[in-house]
Amino acid sequence: MKRIKYQADIDSQTLETLQAGMLGWYRQYGRELPWRQTRDPYAVIVSEIMLHQTTVNTVVPVYLRFMEKFPTVFDLASAPLEEVKHITDPLGYKVRGQWLKNIAEVIVTEHEGEWPKTLEGWMALPGVGRYTAGAVLSFAFEQDAAILDTNVRRVLGRYFGIAYRETRAEVVHRLWALAEAIVPKGEAFHFNQALMDFGAMVCTARHPACTICPVVDQCVTVGEGVPEAAAEEVSAYTIRTRADP
Ligand code: ADE
Repeated sequence: MKRIKYQADIDSQTLETLQAGMLGWYRQYGRELPWRQTRDPYAVIVSEIMLHQTTVNTVVPVYLRFMEKFPTVFDLASAPLEEVKHITDPLGYKVRGQWLKNIAEVIVTEHEGEWPKTLEGWMALPGVGRYTAGAVLSFAFEQDAAILDTNVRRVLGRYFGIAYRETRAEVVHRLWALAEAIVPKGEAFHFNQALMDFGAMVCTARHPACTICPVVDQCVTVGEGVPEAAAEEVSAYTIRTRADP
């Protein structure tokens, strides 16, 4: 199997299969979630911070309660922290309320209520990392931004044959480079939501449903055997495509 070095080397069949496979699957099976019905950056950042390390089913009722109580960034910025935490603390990971309030205060006091429209602008906000910035840019502004969370790492890692559990900088860098290279132009909203749902519902950590996977024929890890076992063995330094000899 040929070893390739850069994401630009992804062959077009591998890329198109993944893009069409994810978009088609999402059209049919994607979840209707409340934060997908809006393009309001405030609603999107609220949802993303709540979804951090927390499942969709747990977040939905809390998100709805939160948006009812604090419908705009101005409401949140002026709310007492205790009231915010009262809603967010039951999600666990109790810094979330403070985190959201910090962001709201910066937007109101330093940006006159205007949200940034660039990756750098978002990443300059307190507590916002590259994943969250990419999520908001693609979900609220429909920009061609990439995301890489646990689910997406796993989907890409398996599909391209990368040791996605490794946390070394080179591996993370390579996965990010791939995540950026695969976003179909103008389709980041649906494609990124698709990758998330696909990772949560089909390409799951313990029991991937490979028999119903629309891109199974191109999946390097499946081509090598059982997804979990094979993924462990794949070299962290290589990206391989199933089409390679
Ligand atoms: N996890 C993080 N962001 C998400 C989103 N927008 N939809 C579903 N799960 C998510």
